[in-house]
Amino acid sequence: MSKLLGNLNLAMALGVLLLLAAMFGLHGEMMGDNYATAWLRFFHVLAGITWIGLLYYFNLVQIPTMPSVPAELKGGVSKYIAPRALFWFRWSALATVILGLLVAETQQAGYAGRALTLSEGYRTIGIGIWLGLIMAANVWFIIWPNQKRALGLVAADDAVKARSATTAMMASRTNFILSVPMLYCMVAQAHIG
Ligand code: HEM
Repeated sequence: MSKLLGNLNLAMALGVLLLLAAMFGLHGEMMGDNYATAWLRFFHVLAGITWIGLLYYFNLVQIPTMPSVPAELKGGVSKYIAPRALFWFRWSALATVILGLLVAETQQAGYAGRALTLSEGYRTIGIGIWLGLIMAANVWFIIWPNQKRALGLVAADDAVKARSATTAMMASRTNFILSVPMLYCMVAQAHIG
């Protein structure tokens, strides 16, 4: 048992196996032509919680704790934990966007264009998508380049490092705030409209 639970890849494979059991066991007969969208929607949400989960980890755990971490231990976070967290953070953000747009476009009447133009009936998800796009742009064009400098993954002098850390923190905090209405719009579209 500890061999299985101690191995991250095996644990992920087991999760996918149980996903198949749940999906086919519960809805196998009624899925019809909806498989593609159902898979895309599911993996969209999985990528989304990976992204936003890490955003909440940064804002609720790492950023508030760093000032009180003793200087000699800070490297453990900045050299080992943060780079791996940022790896999953930026790639899950990109996956969420791509899968989300595919969800909109692969429905019977693809509506990505109508959502992006906030047309009648698609205003809620449209606003959610725009918030998600702003957040993903923040991740790739502001947080990640600034974090690379702040964490010393690319060369920068101390003043630039400090400025980059502040910029990354403010962009991360902005995303933290935007994630709340974004998520409301994501879940409200199907249930409220
Ligand atoms: C630019 C980024 C995003 C795009 C393009 C996008 C797109 C979509 C679309 C098209 C839907 C289906 C709405 C419907 O027809 O009912 C949806 C639903 C959803 N999205 Fe996103 N989304 C994005 C970001 C996120 C993020 C970051 C999360 C975080 C977890 C998320 C979670 C959800 C959830 C939970 C649903 C509801 C699924 C359901 O009720 O069936 N989305 N999204």
